[in-house]
Amino acid sequence: MRTLRYGIVGGGFITMFHLRALRQVRGVEVAGLVSRRPPEAAARYVREHGLGEGKVYRSVKEMAPHVDVVAIFAPNFTRIATIEELVDAVKAGAPLKGVICEKPLGRNLPEARRLVELIRQVNLPNAYFENQIYMKSVNAAREQLRQVSEAMGPPLLARSGEEHAGPHNAWFWDPTQQGGGVMSDMGCHCLGVGWYALTPPDKPVRFLQPQSVSADLALLKWGQPRWRQELLDRFGVDYARTPAEDFATGMVTYLNPETGQRAKSQFSVSWMFDKQGMRLALETLGAGYGFETSTLRSSLEVFIGDVAAAGVANAEAALEKSQSSRGLLAVQPNEADLYGYTDENEDAAASFRAGRSAMLDWDYGVEIVRLTMAAYLASERRATVDLTDPATNEFLETYVPLIQQGRGGEVL
Ligand SMILES: NC(=O)c1ccc[n+]([C@@H]2O[C@H](COP(=O)([O-])OP(=O)(O)OC[C@H]3O[C@@H](n4cnc5c(N)ncnc54)[C@H](O)[C@@H]3O)[C@@H](O)[C@H]2O)c1
Repeated sequence: MRTLRYGIVGGGFITMFHLRALRQVRGVEVAGLVSRRPPEAAARYVREHGLGEGKVYRSVKEMAPHVDVVAIFAPNFTRIATIEELVDAVKAGAPLKGVICEKPLGRNLPEARRLVELIRQVNLPNAYFENQIYMKSVNAAREQLRQVSEAMGPPLLARSGEEHAGPHNAWFWDPTQQGGGVMSDMGCHCLGVGWYALTPPDKPVRFLQPQSVSADLALLKWGQPRWRQELLDRFGVDYARTPAEDFATGMVTYLNPETGQRAKSQFSVSWMFDKQGMRLALETLGAGYGFETSTLRSSLEVFIGDVAAAGVANAEAALEKSQSSRGLLAVQPNEADLYGYTDENEDAAASFRAGRSAMLDWDYGVEIVRLTMAAYLASERRATVDLTDPATNEFLETYVPLIQQGRGGEVL
């Protein structure tokens, strides 16, 4: 197997998670890293774990000729500038084999489509990273139920949720930089995995056709004076001026084009899950069968009493976004694998080696942005958005949600 040399853009939270995942992926090494500030911690981790040279470069342009794959793990608002620089490097001769982009592909449709247009100019195989679709639990359930769903018909209803107590960095809370609140940040996970869970196992990921989207977005916790003040103190973000939603729920209706059967995907996301840590849950039901998975269930639980808790500093050692370091704690010993990061990197690497895009390409990423925009529009209009209506689709192409424009006060 030919080793693929990754060059990673961004040296923050998700980069560290992917590095943990890459320790479990064969045939990939991390040759380069570039970030806004020199990503020394990530580079040290790379070298300490034998993941590769981990050389820190000053720019994407400088790094591109020395790697096979550029993995974009930088903040949402930096996408276009990064891809423009990358495409220029390829045009100047950098022999890249693929490019990866973390979710979301763009903050709105004009941005997402611009990224696809840029990458087409150089015909570069690509991967859109939506980890939940690669979760081993989700794929094991689909495999286990393959024959049942062939006999009884594909799933009809999916309910998915991703929640935690709020993001770790200021730019996530700024709707103009991030793209919105929790719908933009985490709704994409549920939209992706719900669609996938309903899709017959032998069909491509975009087989089911989205028909309509309804949604209700709200600011429940972080708009209250006490919590607004905390955001101001911790992150310098003022939710009195530019609020974003900390809760979103809704439903996408899909059509099976072969049978005419409809299926529904309910989603629910929040930044106000003041419980154990990150909850990532999926329930899927067909006629006579179903499956359910939750990342808050683990075969490992530890207990830390009040007396011992004083000595425990690192709550996040147990679970991403963990809220507590005492009591009965669910511990996930391999979160990078649990959430699907291992498998999405494996698929990207195998696909690029074969000269093609991954199962989830950037066109798929655009579709997820389209569904996300439909959810914002549905909430703004307080009406279901009909995705079979040409005028609505045309409107979505240039639509930027009020919350993303920094005008969330008008709708929340
Ligand atoms: N799949 C998931 O579950 C998941 C989880 C977290 C984040 N993400 C995505 O990953 C991306 C990064 O999120 P994060 O949590 O790592 O954020 P972060 O704030 O923890 O880290 C961002 C990093 O990018 C660097 N950076 C900032 N501007 C840059 C630029 N112009 N060029 C290069 N680097 C730059 C920062 O210095 C920092 O090192 C986001 O798009 C986010 O949506 C995905």
